Amino acid sequence: MTRRIRILDTTLRDGEQSPGINLNVREKLEIAEQLARLEVDVIEAGFPVSSPGDFEAVKGIAKNVKGPVICALARADRNDIDWAWESIMFSERPRIHTFISTSELHMKHQLKKTPNQVLEMARDAVAYARKYVENVEFSCMDATRSDPEYLYKICQAAIKAGASVINIPDTVGYALPVEFAELLKNIKEHVDMGDATLSVHCHNDLGLAVANSIAALGAGVDQVECAINGLGERAGNCSLEEVVMVINTRKASLQLATGINTKEIFQASRLVSMLTGYNVQPNKAVVGENAFAHESGIHQDGVLKDRTTYEIMKPQDIGLMEGELYLGKHSGRHALKTKLEEMGFYLDDKGLERAFIRFKELADKKKEVAIKDLEAIALDEIRTLEELFQLEYMQSSSGSGAIPIAAIRLSKEGKGYDATATGDGQVDAVCKAIAKASKIPAKLVSYTVSAITHGLDAMGDVTIKLQIEGHEVVGRGVSPDIIEASARAYVNAINRAIQKGILEKKRLKQKAHK
Ligand code: KIV
Ligand code: ZN
Repeated sequence: MTRRIRILDTTLRDGEQSPGINLNVREKLEIAEQLARLEVDVIEAGFPVSSPGDFEAVKGIAKNVKGPVICALARADRNDIDWAWESIMFSERPRIHTFISTSELHMKHQLKKTPNQVLEMARDAVAYARKYVENVEFSCMDATRSDPEYLYKICQAAIKAGASVINIPDTVGYALPVEFAELLKNIKEHVDMGDATLSVHCHNDLGLAVANSIAALGAGVDQVECAINGLGERAGNCSLEEVVMVINTRKASLQLATGINTKEIFQASRLVSMLTGYNVQPNKAVVGENAFAHESGIHQDGVLKDRTTYEIMKPQDIGLMEGELYLGKHSGRHALKTKLEEMGFYLDDKGLERAFIRFKELADKKKEVAIKDLEAIALDEIRTLEELFQLEYMQSSSGSGAIPIAAIRLSKEGKGYDATATGDGQVDAVCKAIAKASKIPAKLVSYTVSAITHGLDAMGDVTIKLQIEGHEVVGRGVSPDIIEASARAYVNAINRAIQKGILEKKRLKQKAHK
């Protein structure tokens, strides 16, 4: 009989812990809405005690996103749990997820607690969370390097205190599939699970996160924690699209199924990539650009005769539809709004007006405006934070033998900020001018540019990583003009630094030293 596996998506919590990612409340909400369309069972929306922004985002998701269980993370600490509850209390289906380290290594060196103290903290945290909500998940951090006997004991204590989900994380991505499956079988044997669900959370340090999750499912686990595009701490988490498509494609052998609407996978992957600035590698399984591309003559010949010769999944299964054209230059505001809403983008009046102007400019330049162009414009609007810096105007020039020069105007809360600068190239000049106008010094860590669609008239998609006050921030911008896309990406990155409070922290530090 086919067993139904629950999918917990942690893109907005563990995924958001990837270096350089700092999504704002609006962006997190946008991703959560897409996760709901994907029909994940649980959205782990964030770690509310970690920052006011995270708290607000989890609260916004709990209030607005219907369908999945909305889960908030908390350490095994009453204050963390209070914050977690405050953030998810308006959800129709709230869950508190509390965790503590259980390996000797972590307990001794990080927590500086004895195993008995940790056991007590776990018991107290679960019982405390249960006062707020029935659905409580407990995780044993670094479980795969923990003493199994101790694991059984703490899992049993958590269940007794009221945990409804017991999660076994391979926190450092150390496990091998065979030994991980063995550990889970032993847990099922030694722990009286009652009605509690057994879950796994695998990291990808050795590239085994998906293999370990599948092995765990074979051992009888019922929930898999994963993230879109495999985002997460260090090498990331188990990739949602991969684990789901393994289950789908090998249904007959595995006798497993998920509730995921796989047709929303590609859109979820693109949305997360565009908003986080983490590009998907071309050869990434399932969602990479080459996942359904066939290069060699023999393969092309086979696919032309029958796609199944070299394709084990259909592109349509993940919602990939090629070559679909959207609007033309005569389309009006209403048509744009309707199309964007069909794609799941709901812009406010100001955002829609800006998107419309950009759409018209693009339609004038290009013969056809593709779905990806519209999506890129909409996402650029979602990234825009009204109250922070906006790029009002830019001009740049260069030529052989001439020094590249740029003039820009930024605006913030109705005030204009102008600057000009020269640089080693036009992009360098424009970035320097923005740094001057905003008075935010930053070091460029990396710069990548790619095309949204094919052809010489394609929109440029620029991702910039900056270092500001020792913190890395990623910005992204799109435009048919690469220099303008670069300026937008740079402004987006400095806005993220402001939003993250990086500059505020510096000011406070300077004040304290005076
Ligand atoms: O990797 C880990 O152990 C975690 C826990 C908080 C579940 O992310
Ligand atoms: Zn993790």
